Amino acid sequence: MQTVSILGATGSIGTQTLDVLRQHRDRFQVGALTTFRRVSELKAMIEEFEPQHVVVSNKQQRDEIIRDYPKVDILYGANAYTEIAGAIQDALVVNAFVGSMGISPTIKAIEAHCSVALANKETLVAAGQLVMAKAKEVGVRIIPVDSEHSAIAQCLQGYEAQSVERLILTASGGPFRLMDQEALQYVTLADALAHPTWRMGPKITVDSATLMNKGLEVIEAHHLFAMPFDQIDVVVHPQSIIHSLVEFKDGALLAQLGAPDMRVPIQYALLEGRSLTTSPYKRLDLKTLGSLTFESPDWGRFPALRIAYECGRLGGGYPTVMNAANEVAAQAFLRDEISFLSIVDIVSDVLDRYQNDPITSLDDIFAADHFARALAMEIVFERGKDH
Ligand SMILES: NC(=O)c1ccc[n+]([C@@H]2O[C@H](COP(=O)([O-])OP(=O)(O)OC[C@H]3O[C@@H](n4cnc5c(N)ncnc54)[C@H](OP(=O)(O)O)[C@@H]3O)[C@@H](O)[C@H]2O)c1
Repeated sequence: MQTVSILGATGSIGTQTLDVLRQHRDRFQVGALTTFRRVSELKAMIEEFEPQHVVVSNKQQRDEIIRDYPKVDILYGANAYTEIAGAIQDALVVNAFVGSMGISPTIKAIEAHCSVALANKETLVAAGQLVMAKAKEVGVRIIPVDSEHSAIAQCLQGYEAQSVERLILTASGGPFRLMDQEALQYVTLADALAHPTWRMGPKITVDSATLMNKGLEVIEAHHLFAMPFDQIDVVVHPQSIIHSLVEFKDGALLAQLGAPDMRVPIQYALLEGRSLTTSPYKRLDLKTLGSLTFESPDWGRFPALRIAYECGRLGGGYPTVMNAANEVAAQAFLRDEISFLSIVDIVSDVLDRYQNDPITSLDDIFAADHFARALAMEIVFERGKDH
């Protein structure tokens, strides 16, 4: 039996991971589960999956759980979310936390010889070089969970790295794909949360609306597949049926297709390959699918994608700073403190005031992250006065 721990078990990816585990009870047992706020959901998970450990954010939550489940090992507090990632040697750790808080648990898991199924793309954006180097040094795998990166990993199976011309990430284009610049000024939180093809957690849904999500994914792909930025392309594909493609030097394109359902890439990550039993997830019916369309991203209306490429190419602390500023701005938008267009303006402002300090350690990463957060919060406060 493989032990699987899920960091962020009560979120969108976490609950879908548990759904996949339900299909493979003969192969997996649950090591650790975490929640931040959703204690009653976690209790239901304890009842069903009998994890060895759980993590909650405070003592009150811990006391509430211990009353009903005196036998489960319960940790609490901010450091516990990192400690638990390395608590079970050789487990498979699914990192479904949101934001750069996922960095330390990823490192901790690697140090405990755990392979990491990584949904938490912010970890690779902010600290990709250090994390990939650490995984290589210890000899564990960083397995993509993001549907685009899972698709690319599947298309690359069996081919030499030198045969690849470029990676092509598909993007739905988000809810504002067809909206003009003027109208973008007035979009609401509810508009931004209405993603046309995927149901996801709030932060990634906002990132999809600004196209920052695709920018984060470009940097994620750069680290996962050791691919230069000039060989990573983005194409808008509104139907979200082709999850990404690889173009080879002989001109052939390989694509991975499927109904938009994260349980498929999650399952591929957990099994590290294809299921031998038939999955219950929705199938594509090619005969009734209609047309698949493709277009260029609009770099003018959605500057986040350009900014992400620039930061990726500049390297150093730029991707870390971009990511942290975006986290602060996206969360402020989710609290209705700033307008939609302010999100990327704030990221730009913070980057303009960043002097690229050398990045050689995790402490350097955390310093750049801290700088960006503090500055972004100041700007949010100033802009919030006029909102
Ligand atoms: N959702 C998708 O379809 C999808 C697809 C591809 C990639 N991803 C990536 O996967 C990651 C997770 O996304 P998601 O959509 O699943 O997010 P989500 O639904 O917001 O879930 C986040 C999880 O992290 C927990 N959490 C949040 N803040 C925390 C904190 N300060 N300390 C400890 N735990 C905390 C949440 O706990 P509570 O439940 O208690 O709030 C929840 O369990 C992101 O990096 C995202 O970009 C998501």
